[in-house]
Amino acid sequence: MCGIFAYLNYRIPKTRRHILETLIKGLQRLEYRGYDSAGVAIDAPSKGAHENGKQICVVKQQGKVEVLAEKLRGMAEFDFNDEMLCHVGIAHTRWATHGVPNEVNSHPQRSDPENEFVVVHNGIVTNYKALKKLLEGKGFKFESETDTEVIPKMLKYLHQQPDAKDISFSTLVERVVKELEGAFAIVVKSVHFPGEVVATKRGSPLLIGVACSGELSTDIIPIRYCKSISEGDHSKVVPQNNPLGSLHPVDVECGVEYYFASDASAIVEHTRRVIFVEDDDVAAVSGGHLSLHRVCRGPGQDCRALQTLEMELQQIVKGSYNSYMQKEIFEQPDSVLNTMRGRLKFESNIVMLGGLKDHVKVIKRCRRLILIGCGTSYHAALATRQVLEELSELPVMVELASDFLDRHTPVFRDDVCFFISQSGETADTLMALHFCKENGALTVGVTNTVGSSISRVTECGIHINAGPEIGVASTKAYTSQVVALVMFALFMSEDRISMTQRRKEIFKGLEELPDQIRKVLQIDSDVKELAGEMYKQLSLLIMGRGYNYATCLEGALKIKEITYMHSEGILSGELKHGPLALIDDKMPVIMIIPRDGTYTKCHNALKQVTARRGLPVVLCEENDKETISLAFKALLLPSTVDCLQGILAVIPLQLLSLHIANLRNMDVDCPRNLAKSVTVE
Ligand code: M6R
Repeated sequence: MCGIFAYLNYRIPKTRRHILETLIKGLQRLEYRGYDSAGVAIDAPSKGAHENGKQICVVKQQGKVEVLAEKLRGMAEFDFNDEMLCHVGIAHTRWATHGVPNEVNSHPQRSDPENEFVVVHNGIVTNYKALKKLLEGKGFKFESETDTEVIPKMLKYLHQQPDAKDISFSTLVERVVKELEGAFAIVVKSVHFPGEVVATKRGSPLLIGVACSGELSTDIIPIRYCKSISEGDHSKVVPQNNPLGSLHPVDVECGVEYYFASDASAIVEHTRRVIFVEDDDVAAVSGGHLSLHRVCRGPGQDCRALQTLEMELQQIVKGSYNSYMQKEIFEQPDSVLNTMRGRLKFESNIVMLGGLKDHVKVIKRCRRLILIGCGTSYHAALATRQVLEELSELPVMVELASDFLDRHTPVFRDDVCFFISQSGETADTLMALHFCKENGALTVGVTNTVGSSISRVTECGIHINAGPEIGVASTKAYTSQVVALVMFALFMSEDRISMTQRRKEIFKGLEELPDQIRKVLQIDSDVKELAGEMYKQLSLLIMGRGYNYATCLEGALKIKEITYMHSEGILSGELKHGPLALIDDKMPVIMIIPRDGTYTKCHNALKQVTARRGLPVVLCEENDKETISLAFKALLLPSTVDCLQGILAVIPLQLLSLHIANLRNMDVDCPRNLAKSVTVE
């Protein structure tokens, strides 16, 4: 939800063109996080507006990042070849929460028309109304509808106070951040601190990439703590000195570049060496040195280490595909393999989940499993509930995070709670996680993003290893989440002799899965043809039951999300309780009919539909002649074990949504009103 990017070059001369191109490229990599408007702030050609001769220029534009890039290219007042030895540029791509997507509500937000302080922000400042009132009382005039605008104005206000004369930029930001409530990541630039940048976060993700032309002083930055003598008295925040608290080039002649971003995908093409900023860290660069401060010593480590990104650039570019979504659908043979890699021994039917090893006893002795997620991640939980109940012999609750919180659901110390999230940053899921932790349950993360909030806050977890997912519509993460949870079900049943045969079947199914997915992807042209027949329709019903109820919901979500066509996933058992009224020869219907325990009941539903002149397109197994003969049309799938059949069935639905969206001329990677990572409640 909103992408932040900032770039600082120190003692490495860069032209204004290079700086702007770097900012725009960073935003383009983050565009999946929000794409209704974008903006940058850079040093303007000096006009002497401030005592130090510096002025900040802010350029913003409604629409996608490319529209901003176009506007920047046409700015006659910029000398693009002008070289700067030390410069800070900050940038933002927005998913609107407070205020409509327009230029004035875009970021960077500013303190005043002179742009003394400019801020890019991801998240929500929940107490912004109170702060705005206070600042209006001090004479500040607000121009936007955003919550963000209180931050630069508060910076200016505190900077004007007599006790702020000699304080550093980071101390100033610390003072402001102490007043903010909510979840946020911010990056700040100011005319009063040229060549410096300060960033901090609480809840929202932020990392810093470091590229040095020589050697760095260390790979570890100890954190400098500032002790607050009296809460609320800003003048008495004193640093507890730690002279080693910074990262800088060893040789004074060396240059260094810093990249601040909401996500590693914007950094990896510049450097693999990164520091993940933790909640309440205040990261500041001054004189080329990066230092980290915290207001008080809280939970967490006393240093941050430079880490090496394992992501490959090739993972985050579209290559020969037309969209990220298409690429990610076609990556599924490999992504599910990567989820299983090193974890399953097919010759001995053993599963090794290293991320759970320190908590095995607690997990195996628990009284209940609760699986919590939103959207597609919730569907992955639903898709695996039955096999988890069967193999763990435990009650399994599956919960939408927002509803789970609304109900104040009772949670106990002997519960094990799973938090399923591709991004690992979804606010509702994260809040449910905090709630379960407070109630003493063991928490397990199932995420696709190393270093994400959910993976850090949970006690243990399973990383799904699907590789970066950039299309807003989740595809490969879903199939990998299902595989990860099926592996967990196997892990829970490894001591049960009575389940040996069943476990064998599932191991075999998992082993064959990548090749079977490859086979399903070969029906892409049939699916495209079907899309051609359906794309002008107003609605599409998708029906199934048992393991495939989740497949129906997931397929319908994909259709709605990227084609804007109405679609509904219906449990076939519920058909006669209402939805049957919708059926006639005009209503498009897809029915999923696997040869599992629900087969006869699925056939009852099929007959109920055809008896009302319905024309169902059926997704069934390739050798199921009976179903094929009853269907209006059939898409054929390879057969696998019941609990994995949904993985094969969801792929034609992913492809169908992609083709319908293309035929309707929609931007499949950036559907309207949505963003990839939903970091607001
Ligand atoms: O990152 P998460 O898995 O926590 O995201 C949850 C949902 O926002 C997400 O799955 C959403 O439903 C997808 N865009 C659907 O394709």
